[in-house]
Amino acid sequence: MNVFLGVMFFVLGSLAVYVFQRKKYTKVTEEDLVCEVVQKAFIREKLSDHNEHKLVRELLKSDAFIKDLSLTAKYKGMIVGYILFTKVKVGDETLLALAPLAVLPKFQKKGIGKSLVEKGHGVAKKLGYKGVVVLGHPEYYAKFGYEPASKWSIKAPFEVKDENFMAIELIPGGLTDVSGIVEYAKEFGL
Ligand SMILES: CC(C)(COP(=O)(O)OP(=O)(O)OC[C@H]1O[C@@H](n2cnc3c(N)ncnc32)[C@H](O)[C@@H]1OP(=O)(O)O)[C@@H](O)C(=O)NCCC(=O)NCCS
Repeated sequence: MNVFLGVMFFVLGSLAVYVFQRKKYTKVTEEDLVCEVVQKAFIREKLSDHNEHKLVRELLKSDAFIKDLSLTAKYKGMIVGYILFTKVKVGDETLLALAPLAVLPKFQKKGIGKSLVEKGHGVAKKLGYKGVVVLGHPEYYAKFGYEPASKWSIKAPFEVKDENFMAIELIPGGLTDVSGIVEYAKEFGL
């Protein structure tokens, strides 16, 4: 009887330790690290709702997600920047939306954002996408060639200043025949 009780205590004890350890040491995934970078990058942004990291988590599971267009920038093995392009519909055409672009505050103004945008554009072009739309600072995105989307009669599905809703052609004339209201992935909640 004593042996039986001893074995029972041992088994239950081991089980309790296993459950506790699993709970305590849940593995941090790349997705968690990316979301942390996004959250920290937007922390001081006045025009942010500070929920971009939650949106990223949803977008990573969405139909609009393209694995090759979810890109990280690393410094000494640590994720310091992130960019995501997801599919959007404009009329019959599938374009991309750039959102979000995020660089950790300490690593900003070092060219990391620029390299992520340029890398993303390169991959998107290879995948055959004709253009990208973005909501953001015109002074920043103009550096890459973004222009007000109204130039092509591409409209945002929300109220926004003309200069803040932009687009870029990834191939010359890529947006010539594209016009309409951008339909974002439902995860954007628009
Ligand atoms: C915006 C952001 C992604 C830029 O990343 P970054 O790595 O600091 O940018 P880079 O160093 O690559 O800058 C590229 C160029 O843009 C300029 N720039 C950087 N931030 C800028 C800003 N907010 N507005 C205008 N220009 C900006 C740089 O001076 C640089 O100019 P140069 O090529 O003439 O030297 C980064 O500041 C960030 O994560 N901000 C918080 C989140 C955010 O606002 N995301 C964008 C949503 S629209």
